[in-house]
Amino acid sequence: MSHPSAHPATHTAAVPPIVPRDKLDFGLDGDIPRFWLDNDAFKTRFFDAMSTLFPVGERFFITCVRDYRDRIDDPAMLEDIKNFTRQEGQHSMLHTQYNNRLQAQGVRVDRILAGQEKRLFGIIRKHCSREFTLGMTAAAEHITAIMAECFAERGEIFANADRRIRALYVWHAMEEMEHKAVAYDVMQKIARVGYFTRVRAMLLVGGLFPFHTFRIMRHMLRVDGFSRWQRAKIWAKGLWWLYKPGGLLTPVLGSFLAYLKPGFHPWQQAVVPSYQRWMDALARTGDPVAAGDVLQQASRA
Ligand SMILES: [Fe+2]
Ligand SMILES: [Fe+2]
Repeated sequence: MSHPSAHPATHTAAVPPIVPRDKLDFGLDGDIPRFWLDNDAFKTRFFDAMSTLFPVGERFFITCVRDYRDRIDDPAMLEDIKNFTRQEGQHSMLHTQYNNRLQAQGVRVDRILAGQEKRLFGIIRKHCSREFTLGMTAAAEHITAIMAECFAERGEIFANADRRIRALYVWHAMEEMEHKAVAYDVMQKIARVGYFTRVRAMLLVGGLFPFHTFRIMRHMLRVDGFSRWQRAKIWAKGLWWLYKPGGLLTPVLGSFLAYLKPGFHPWQQAVVPSYQRWMDALARTGDPVAAGDVLQQASRA
């Protein structure tokens, strides 16, 4: 199945269908270790902090895309928006379940969510144009898509992770790849957002996203009870893990900057090979946790 709306003639990459998958069970209410990634506080809290940003963030993305629904009559694009909405809705639900675990650990998830609600809906949507908030959505979707490609392809990142949380992030990554062009196409073809608005929106999102992730991590590491000196060491080592050459974020810098090219389109970057591997594993096992394991084992081979 192809998606004409997400597949302009100038882009030759194969575009996968956007498949809403609901009722997936990751066993998130099970006994998951506090530091579920590498038994490392920084790495774990980096992913935990992102999880707290998803429910309100994804609702914001849905709202900003749906602002334009009445102006669209291409059935393929309307179908893409519907499936994008269903996928993001499921992500919010599963990450809320994940975040309830964090709240039980003492993390002030309620306060984080309220702050983000106020910033995104109370301030940004109130004071910025619909074009700009759609630009922010397309920018955030680009960032999530390139991070998704990185997590899916680099098996070493989740090699020593709790298999349930790894599977959740892998599933989320795969769906982010499937719908990565939806907001972008609405922005370009329907809202006709100009280049400078698109870039300004990316500069804002590219600054806000790490700023809030780190701010939330700071709170989480305090809740974990580390002393000031321990936290300084955790941050020094963790920032090196993120930004060293070949670290978690450095290799995606090129993909990030590609967004600033005037002729950029998300499907200039084809879907990564692990996507099909995961799809096959999910079809075969019917279990997203097992599919995450299969992907992990394949990366070791
Ligand atoms: Fe999502
Ligand atoms: Fe998304």
